[in-house]
Amino acid sequence: MDTLIRGGTLIDAELSVRSDLLIRDGVIAAVGDNLEAPNGAQIIDAGGQYVMPGGIDPHTHMELPFMGTVTSEDFYSGTAAGLAGGTTSIIDFVIPAPKQSLMEAFRTWRGWAEKAAADYAFHVAVTWWDESVHREMGELAHEHGVSSFKHFMAYKNAIMCDDEVLVNSFTRCLELGALPTVHAENGELVFRLQKQLLARGITGPEGHPLSRPPAVEGEAANRAIRIAEVLGAPLYIVHNSARQSLEAITRARNEGQRVFGEVLAGHLVIDDSVYRDADFTRAAAHVMSPPFRAKEHQRALWQGLQAGHLQTTATDHCCFCAPQKAAGKDDFTKIPNGCGGIEDRLSVLWHYGVNSGRLTPNEFVKVTSTNAAQIFNLYPKKGSLRVGADADLVLWDPNGTRTISAKTHHQNVDYNIFEGRTVQGIATHTFTRGHLAWINGDLRAQRGHGRYLPRPVNGSYYDAVRKRVR
Ligand code: URP
Ligand code: ZN
Ligand code: ZN
Repeated sequence: MDTLIRGGTLIDAELSVRSDLLIRDGVIAAVGDNLEAPNGAQIIDAGGQYVMPGGIDPHTHMELPFMGTVTSEDFYSGTAAGLAGGTTSIIDFVIPAPKQSLMEAFRTWRGWAEKAAADYAFHVAVTWWDESVHREMGELAHEHGVSSFKHFMAYKNAIMCDDEVLVNSFTRCLELGALPTVHAENGELVFRLQKQLLARGITGPEGHPLSRPPAVEGEAANRAIRIAEVLGAPLYIVHNSARQSLEAITRARNEGQRVFGEVLAGHLVIDDSVYRDADFTRAAAHVMSPPFRAKEHQRALWQGLQAGHLQTTATDHCCFCAPQKAAGKDDFTKIPNGCGGIEDRLSVLWHYGVNSGRLTPNEFVKVTSTNAAQIFNLYPKKGSLRVGADADLVLWDPNGTRTISAKTHHQNVDYNIFEGRTVQGIATHTFTRGHLAWINGDLRAQRGHGRYLPRPVNGSYYDAVRKRVR
């Protein structure tokens, strides 16, 4: 069925313009004034609302086996919750166990994701190295549309990469025209600090941020950046939470290096006081890595986003319920790391970003959708309002409000890190490839509607890196 969205203000990364928009066969078929409704079309009145590209969350972990358990959100429930908040695509992570074949892990994740209600792509993590990893990275890039590879510089004795793996894998990414990404924390230092804290009798969640101070993140970010510089590779650093990693990115970008930075909605608005909560369940619900930081870091992160040194926002949606978090009741190092947020990212960014004047509506679209689409080679199919783009759209009521709560959210987790915050700016309608999946509080997500998004290597960003005069 055709859908005509009438009378809204279209907002993309460049322009805000009053216009109608016609959806046909899941794509944007026409944009213009006073479009005629085709026979039988459904007509949506968007008067007073904004029509924007749906959000792209470039960092999620649905049904991830991690730290002895599995995240509570699966690909259906997680993408459905995303649709309720205006997010229409995710880039999740295939994380092979050390020594596991990358292709085998990729097929497993592809199978899990078939139930997704919205479109999805994958970064694949490199957690070890040998000739087969080198070969399978090529297979993934050339035959399966995987154009970004992830490296965990933390989680020692599990999925951590040492410098040798980083150098080998970044080199391979460069050969392939793929983008290396890193979780930047010095895992050796974290491991040592954890042991020291436990020996001093600090076993509760308050030990978590103490074991992962900002310098641990800054060191790893700088190391990854310098490795990338020497090799001539581009680099994307996920979930920057600290002024120190932002400064490393800013310095590198000012020197002409192609480095991208992501920031999480949570790190922008939540501070480290959450770990001093005497209630274990509440404090443990905030245990994620890198941890929430002191307020000075939030100020720096907002400035980094405004200045364009950080280009994307994400959630690192990685949910564990209270009984899972209780595994670390007597030892904070055993609390599964991760928090949710996919449903709330857009409202949080609008409320604290646009309503405060930090971001314009067009900048909001850039940092929640378009920049991720461009960096990860999904553009202009995603992240755009051009004719021919997928009709992944959110109708946004800038005056609508809601109070975020685990009692009312659609995420399959028993806690919400934004609990009790009233945000102004809400998704009233969300379309995923033309299917209206969210209508004023009514979630009509379809299991299996989501499609895998192959992402070609050698997008314009990588070409620019190769052409750069060194
Ligand atoms: O604590 C987190 N962030 N858990 C998910 C895995 C990761 O590091 O991204
Ligand atoms: Zn991480
Ligand atoms: Zn993550």
